[in-house]
Amino acid sequence: MIEQEKIEEVKRQTDIVDIIGRYVQLKKMGKNYRGLCPFHSEKNPSFYVNPEKGIYYCFGCKKGGNAINFLMEYEKLDFPDAIKRLAKNLGIEIDTTKGLRYKELYEVNEQACQFYAHCLTKDIGRRGQEYLLRRNMKLDKLQDFRLGYAPASGGLTTFMRQKGFSVARLQQAGLISTNRELFRDRLIFPIFNLSGRIIGFGGRGIDDFIQPKYLNSPETPIFKKGDGLYGLYQSKEKIRSKGEVMLVEGYFDLLSIYQHGFDNISAPLGTSLTEQQALLLSRFARKAMILFDGDLSGIKAALRAIGLLIDAQVDVFVTLLPENSDPDTFINAQGAEALQELVGNAADFFHFYKGVVKTDTVAQEIALIKDLIQIIGRIKDPIRYDRYLKYAAHVFDIPVETIQKEINGKVKTPKRKIQTTRISQEEELMAMILSGYEYFGVVKKYLKSDDFIEDGIKRLFKKLLKEENFDIAELSEIVDEVLREKLLAGIMRGEPVSEEGMLDAIKKYKGQVMEKRLIKKQNEAYKRGDEAAGEQYNKELLALKRELLNINTENAASGEQ
Ligand code: UTP
Ligand code: MN
Repeated sequence: MIEQEKIEEVKRQTDIVDIIGRYVQLKKMGKNYRGLCPFHSEKNPSFYVNPEKGIYYCFGCKKGGNAINFLMEYEKLDFPDAIKRLAKNLGIEIDTTKGLRYKELYEVNEQACQFYAHCLTKDIGRRGQEYLLRRNMKLDKLQDFRLGYAPASGGLTTFMRQKGFSVARLQQAGLISTNRELFRDRLIFPIFNLSGRIIGFGGRGIDDFIQPKYLNSPETPIFKKGDGLYGLYQSKEKIRSKGEVMLVEGYFDLLSIYQHGFDNISAPLGTSLTEQQALLLSRFARKAMILFDGDLSGIKAALRAIGLLIDAQVDVFVTLLPENSDPDTFINAQGAEALQELVGNAADFFHFYKGVVKTDTVAQEIALIKDLIQIIGRIKDPIRYDRYLKYAAHVFDIPVETIQKEINGKVKTPKRKIQTTRISQEEELMAMILSGYEYFGVVKKYLKSDDFIEDGIKRLFKKLLKEENFDIAELSEIVDEVLREKLLAGIMRGEPVSEEGMLDAIKKYKGQVMEKRLIKKQNEAYKRGDEAAGEQYNKELLALKRELLNINTENAASGEQ
């Protein structure tokens, strides 16, 4: 762990505008700074940074947090690494010799990877070896992927115990679930992050009837599905130098064509491509070549991926494989040259889209044209935009101006979604508490966790009481995403908090929200004839009123608990 004191020092000295300003062009707008959101594609800025509160928030995609969150999200760092990065910028030295939580999970995965890889080379891994042979895999060409085999009889737990790791750690890493090793009789594919650390595993059942065919690690603090891509770590330099990435659907597709010399590949992990992944790819590639299965679901996935990649300003081409084949079966049946040729003849997204979408009626044709125009309208590069525009005009025999009008009407003015998600009174109060966290000492004199009824808020308040140095970056570990977004939006919208303001808000909350709740309960009690309960509520109401009277004066007297 990094010492708490150091973390506080780093946080105190960090200027969020300076940090985010290195990645996003920010313009001052009153108290805030505004810019184009780096986490989703937009033409009108809805990304705000507030230096006073030290947070950023995008009203479009709802991503937000403090400088630490920003680095974690943008640079894919974990919490300690984000702190270290900030510290380095500030010239603060940090000693990280003691074990970190994340670091330990990486270490667990690393050791597990070594165990599985070792098994694959031994007698116990014979089924794995035979399977690879059957599928024509050459381990010597795939060393960077560190494949392994998880024996049917298990053994990971024992191995890890000898290495000094507890069962609890294995559980946290997702390798054990309900006292059972997750992977058994499976070929193991370690999944790497961009720095080459292992964040999770995929495992393919050796027997085809095993369900599920592929099993992936559950989400853990270091593994989030839809964030990373399989093979990106091994391919990223090649992707960068070629400016192009090949996208396939599966583990085997990737490895199979990789060993034939296609080395700029990656694959989304068992999900269809996400916006996050598209943005990640756009950091390395200007062009994507989609090579999905030649079946309906492959085509659908490709259509979806096109939109996301175009939004990330990546040019898209699609290689349509013959029906019933995937890159793996194709290359095994036809060879690398045949695949190369197919890829060489790939269609740009426009042709592909037009080719696969069936248009038997005029209405269908109009829908197709509109879809395509929509996509073209999202291209920012003026030259590419212009080419596709002219091209569409030519293909559909429609004047360029008509298309432009459609684009201007539909695409160029995406109304900025200033979110008006309803936020409850207790959520608003909590946003204020977080915003004015320096006054928490006062807050806890007047509020207890039972004063809240929403579970998430209650939990969060308990955490605030327990922990001395709470950081907004930890919000995601305590509340769900929806609540986190609401709280961040609340903080961003709210005025800076003063001690008096804080007290007034608490007073208002107790005097209005809580009082109403109590009166309602009291009425219900009397209605069902429960005099005792009614009396009890009465006492609580009186106590509440007395407390309300005291809040300001007591505090002016200050200090006492
Ligand atoms: P496919 O079903 O197309 O399998 O799933 P595949 O890649 O051709 O696998 P092989 O050749 O039969 O071994 C495509 C990808 O979807 C994910 C995996 O990442 C797989 O590679 N998937 C599939 C899962 O996560 N779970 C499953 O049960 C199936
Ligand atoms: Mn396959």
